[in-house]
Amino acid sequence: MKTYNIALIPGDGIGKDVTGAAWQVMQAAAKRGGFALDGTRFPWSCAYYLETGAMMPPDGIETLRKFDAIYLGAVGWSAEVPDSVSLHGLLLPIRKGFTQYANIRPHRLLPGVQGPLRSDGFDILCIRENTEGEYSGAGGRIHSGTANEVAVETAIFTRAGVERILRFGFEQARARRKKLASVTKSNAQKHSMVFWDEVTREVAKDYADVEVSHYHIDAIAARMVLAPESLDVIVASNLFGDILTDIGAAIQGGLGYAASANINPDRSAPSMFEPVHGSAPDIAHLGVANPIAAIWSGAMMLEHLGEGHAAAEVMSAIESITARGIGTIAGKDRTETITQAVLAALS
Ligand code: NAD
Ligand code: IPM
Ligand code: MN
Repeated sequence: MKTYNIALIPGDGIGKDVTGAAWQVMQAAAKRGGFALDGTRFPWSCAYYLETGAMMPPDGIETLRKFDAIYLGAVGWSAEVPDSVSLHGLLLPIRKGFTQYANIRPHRLLPGVQGPLRSDGFDILCIRENTEGEYSGAGGRIHSGTANEVAVETAIFTRAGVERILRFGFEQARARRKKLASVTKSNAQKHSMVFWDEVTREVAKDYADVEVSHYHIDAIAARMVLAPESLDVIVASNLFGDILTDIGAAIQGGLGYAASANINPDRSAPSMFEPVHGSAPDIAHLGVANPIAAIWSGAMMLEHLGEGHAAAEVMSAIESITARGIGTIAGKDRTETITQAVLAALS
C-alpha cells in the first residue's frame, strides 16, 4: 500500500485540538482511498521551549526534511514565550528553510456558513510570498533605551523571489478565472514596491491571457470586504498577504474556516499545511475550536500528495455538514461534534 510519511506538529493551544481532530479525518480519508498516512508526532512548541530552551532541536529542520509533508497546528503562547522567539524558532524557519515560497490561502464561503459581512458569491485565492519581504528578519536596534533609539526592520525583496511568486500566481490564475491582482504600496514604498510593480509587468508579458490589476494594499483591503466577487487570484508580499488573509478569513465566516498550504513548488523539500489561525489562547482547552480550517488544510495536503480524489472527498464531507448547519455558527458546535460529523459524512 502506498504510504506517506507525515510530520505532525500540533504546537500550542488549539493547534493541539484541531490537529488531533483533523488527523482522525485524514486517517479516515486514507483508509477510504486505499493509501496510508504514517504520522510522526513532534512535541515542538512553547512547552517544549520551556523544557529545553529551544522551540525545536538544532537538527529539527534536517529531521523534517525526510517527510513527505508537514501538518502543523499553531505556534505561539505569548504568556510564557515571546512570539518573536517562538515563531522565529519554529514556524518561520520551516517556511524559509524548505523554500515554501508560495503560501496558498483559499477564501470562499462553505455552504450554510453565513459570514458576518457576506453571504455568498466570492472565490478568492490568496497567494502570499512566504520566504522574504517584510519577514526577512534583517535589521536591528541601536542606542537602546535612550531618547535616540532607532529600530530598523529591513524588508528584502529579491528579483528571483518576487518573480517566482508572481509566476506561481499567474499559473494559478490561468487555471481559474484568469484574473490576477498584484498588491503593493508603491505610492509610499518607492524601492521594493516599485520593483514589485516592475516585475509584475515583466512577468505579465508571458501571461497575456491573464488580466492583471495593480492594487495598493489599503484599497484592496477595502475591496475584499466590499466587493470580494471582483477578485480571483491575489498575489501579495509576506506581510501584506498575512493581513489580507485574516480579512479573507473574516469574509468567509471566521478564522475557523481559513485553510493554508505552504508550498515548495519545486518539491525539493517538504511542504507544510496548517490553518491560517493561531493558538487562540482565549478558547484553548475548551474543546470549542473549529477544526474545519485544519481539516481543509489537510485536504490541501492530500491534493499535494497526489491523492486528489481523497482530498475532494474530504471537501465534500466538510461541505455536506456545513450545508446541514453543523459547524456554521461560532462556538455552537464543539470540536468533537464537528469532527464526528465530518467522519460520519466520509463513511
Ligand atoms: P488567533 O488566530 O490565535 O486568534 C484570533 C481570534 O480568532 C481569537 O478570538 C480566537 O479565539 C479566534 N479563533 C482562531 N482560530 C479559531 C478556531 N479554529 N475556532 C474558533 N475561533 C478561532 O490569533 P492571535 O490571538 O493573534 O494569536 C494567538 C497566538 O497564535 C499568538 O502567539 C500568535 O503569534 C500565534 N499565531 C500563530 C499562527 C500560526 O501558527 N500559523 C497564526 C496566527 C497567530
Ligand atoms: C500566519 C501567522 C504568522 C505569519 C505569524 C504567527 C508569524 O499570522 O500564519 O498567518 O504572520 O505568517
Ligand atoms: Mn496571520
